[in-house]
Amino acid sequence: MSISKMSAEPRKILVTSALPYANGSIHLGHLVEYIQTDIWVRFQKMRGNEVHYVCADDTHGTPIMLRAEKEGITPEQLIDRVWHEHKADFDGFHVEFDHYGSTNSAETREYAQAIYRKLKAAGLIEVRSVEQFYDPIKNMFLPDRFIKGECPKCGAKDQYGDNCEACGAAYAPTELKNPYSAVSGAKPELRNSDHYFFKLSADTCQKFLREWTRSGALQPEAANKMQEWLGAEGENKLTDWDISRDAPYFGFEIPDAPGKYFYVWLDAPVGYMGSFKQLCSLPSPTGGELARGPAGGGGTPVDFDEFWDKQKAERSGTELYHFIGKDILYFHALFWPAMLQHAGFRTPTKLFAHGFLTVNGEKMSKSRGTFITAESYLKQGLNPEYLRYYYAAKLNGTMEDIDLNLEDFVARVNSDLVGKLVNIASRSAGFLTKYFDGYLSAWPKNDGTLADDILGSTTRSELPVIVWDGSEEIELAYENREYSKVIREIMHRADLINQKYDSYKPWNLTKDESQRQLLHDVCSAAIDAFALLIYHIQPILPELSRQAAEFLQLPFPLQWGIKPNLTKRIQPYQHLMTRIDQKQIDAMIDSNKDSLSPSPSPASGRGEVAQSEQRHAAHQQHTANKEVAHAEKDFESFIGIEDFAKIDLRVAKIVNAEHVEGAEKLLKLTLDIGEEQTRTVFAGIKSAYDPEKLKGRMTVMVANLAPRKMKFGLSEGMVLAASGDASGLFILSPDDGAQPGMRIK
Ligand code: MSP
Ligand code: ZN
Repeated sequence: MSISKMSAEPRKILVTSALPYANGSIHLGHLVEYIQTDIWVRFQKMRGNEVHYVCADDTHGTPIMLRAEKEGITPEQLIDRVWHEHKADFDGFHVEFDHYGSTNSAETREYAQAIYRKLKAAGLIEVRSVEQFYDPIKNMFLPDRFIKGECPKCGAKDQYGDNCEACGAAYAPTELKNPYSAVSGAKPELRNSDHYFFKLSADTCQKFLREWTRSGALQPEAANKMQEWLGAEGENKLTDWDISRDAPYFGFEIPDAPGKYFYVWLDAPVGYMGSFKQLCSLPSPTGGELARGPAGGGGTPVDFDEFWDKQKAERSGTELYHFIGKDILYFHALFWPAMLQHAGFRTPTKLFAHGFLTVNGEKMSKSRGTFITAESYLKQGLNPEYLRYYYAAKLNGTMEDIDLNLEDFVARVNSDLVGKLVNIASRSAGFLTKYFDGYLSAWPKNDGTLADDILGSTTRSELPVIVWDGSEEIELAYENREYSKVIREIMHRADLINQKYDSYKPWNLTKDESQRQLLHDVCSAAIDAFALLIYHIQPILPELSRQAAEFLQLPFPLQWGIKPNLTKRIQPYQHLMTRIDQKQIDAMIDSNKDSLSPSPSPASGRGEVAQSEQRHAAHQQHTANKEVAHAEKDFESFIGIEDFAKIDLRVAKIVNAEHVEGAEKLLKLTLDIGEEQTRTVFAGIKSAYDPEKLKGRMTVMVANLAPRKMKFGLSEGMVLAASGDASGLFILSPDDGAQPGMRIK
């Protein structure tokens, strides 16, 4: 007996995945989340529950505004283009939203403002003057991540405004030495401005969050982390949350506060409501005014309030689940529920946080080619269900990171998915078609259907029983998002089926006319078992299941609790899935290699998100108030040729090289770049080069790098050198014949 059969009434469930930023491409890291959610949603729908799965692009904030400006388009044009790219990527991986919207919508604006007004009415909004860095060239306040300078602790150059990647120190941007704007290069000025704060420090918020975070809505690890952030009873560690940003800003203006905009993280989660509201007003496929609930919903319109209004939601028992990455737990477990609670909305039933993807055991990296975009995967012709299968095999419902080991990926897909699961169908269907014209072995019942009471005795019943037994365990594992267990259970059954099938040696049975019935029964039983395996794996492999259903002549999609009984005949077998060719993986990695950035730069996506998580833990509220996870993930993907053209690369002759007193790593180089004056550059290459040997050599320098005052003098540019994981440092040389001053382009 399955769980779904025991609970008579279908559940009403609203599910979300985090809204991806509209300033970058979907990559395989993102897909951990969307695939995880999609599997759960498909499973719940398969059980006959009323499920609505919504998501949207997260479109506001400084990074998006600046990026649009750089591309010479409006933010609206940018987010529209990215929306279509994201949607195509999700479609490509069979991530099936019931609605995919945008935070830049009338609906999201309306709810963001409504929530704000309610918080204000409750006395939870406060205006305070804040001193912040201002870029006098761009005429804008700078988010921390757009201010760079020298680390106040270790002196490392070009560090972000909130923490040092060299020594790990965390600090305020005002502590940086020689700060400059990453947008214009200007020296930022400190200016005052009024900011709007959500008073999380208020007793009512602290009290509520203390209860809510312990109420079972969070995974145990997440709940522990929240207790850390909240502090001990009476400690009240939460500080107020800065929810406003000054113009120019791409976002929603705050009501009655001209020139003040909601900080992107204020309206981002409201995007869940906005997108769902749009779903509720969609015309139904059957022509009615309103969207209809799926199967379980009985064709009634979807009622927004039933899912979001506090009282109505309680009465009707609707459930709300947010799937998120662990990096954005802070926003979802503290800010979001506090906002909802104090604005009269329902709070989430549960947050499902997952870990981060690593590739081959390491953080995704552009230089290694492991920052793999969804698009590049699909472009190689790789089947999206390989990845769905692999992720499922790794996911377990905790916040642990998961690793995509590419060798293991190829091996498991080929040996398990194709070699075991699909193999059951291909080998038995071959015989059925060849010897029995596709008909399954005869049954006592006239219409050919399978009757439970005759199961126990026949050969044909033997195999399906192996799969059907213990089916509730698989159901429970799905419910708990323990997909790795689902896969283990299914593959274990596939192994048993293959073994059992082999024990009959059907390939020998074909040679003996008197064994025809047995051959027929064994092959039919294998096909029965295959249909049951497909039934169990449908949420993970929806496309394979659709094709299998067609070949098996079964209704699709299969419903949980309704055993797929095969009747008369199957279609001739056609390949359901082929093996991966390692070459496709190699080509995919190559196509993702960022050959332009040998060393990690902001553009490499380095420090991506796991880091923001550490920082959250390290200094909590401080960073949560900043653009954190946001701007950090801004500088992604490619640069245009215009960007490259901005760098003035020249052939330089090293006319002199010498040690610098007191400097551990530097050599002082005098460079001739065909100008009247030579340039002085302090280069960190002492460990690799004897200055004497450098004299007279040709190399390559960046000639238009802003001069930098160092302890030892002014450095007027930079020479380029290669380094990698292996030891050594190598300066570049042009080919023979190049003259000092020649431009490199
Ligand atoms: N826009 C915010 C979320 C707002 S939700 C109201 C955001 N966007 S994101 O594009 O950076 O990330 C979207 C989701 O993908 C997040 O849940 C994030 O944790 C997840 N992932 C992004 N990179 C990931 C990995 N490398 N691995 C696993 N999940 C990852 O955050
Ligand atoms: Zn430092």
